[in-house]
Amino acid sequence: MVYDNIVLIGFMGSGKTSVGKTLARYLHKDFVDVDSVIEKELGASINDIFKDKGEEYFRDLEQKSINEITKKKGQVIATGGGLPIHSTLPKNSLVVYIDADFDVILNRLSQKEHAKRPLLQDEERARSLYAERINTYKELATLSVDANQKIQIFIHVIVDFILDQRVL
Ligand code: S3P
Repeated sequence: MVYDNIVLIGFMGSGKTSVGKTLARYLHKDFVDVDSVIEKELGASINDIFKDKGEEYFRDLEQKSINEITKKKGQVIATGGGLPIHSTLPKNSLVVYIDADFDVILNRLSQKEHAKRPLLQDEERARSLYAERINTYKELATLSVDANQKIQIFIHVIVDFILDQRVL
């Protein structure tokens, strides 16, 4: 086994959670969503954590959570969009960048999903955050997938890569 875990990175709303669940099902692996782990641990939504405790506190939780989660191996892990920007990713993970255009993300997100994301509320700010982050996502990625299409179209790119290379 070359990598311990598969870590999905990418901007908010790019589909990391949906891709992760599908991928885990195909590969018969456990799926873990870092945001959900944090929400469960604190018994609060991401919105409330940002509002009550602030972003810095949340970033600290993200680093602690990813460190804790990756003590186990063989999982598919979806990260929040800011995690690879503010935290160090575990060394021995296969990092997959879920690469979707900003406008595709905005058009695809339901109102409910949009409302869950505090840093997406100001569109211009979110657009510059996207521009600031994409190079880091690309640099960190072992594999980048074009996620402007439906999951069923591109999921096989990730599955084939993993199975061909026997990476997990
Ligand atoms: C964030 C992304 C969110 C969540 C939080 C901050 C970010 O996760 O962790 O709202 O800084 O990009 P998703 O990428 O699942 O939206």
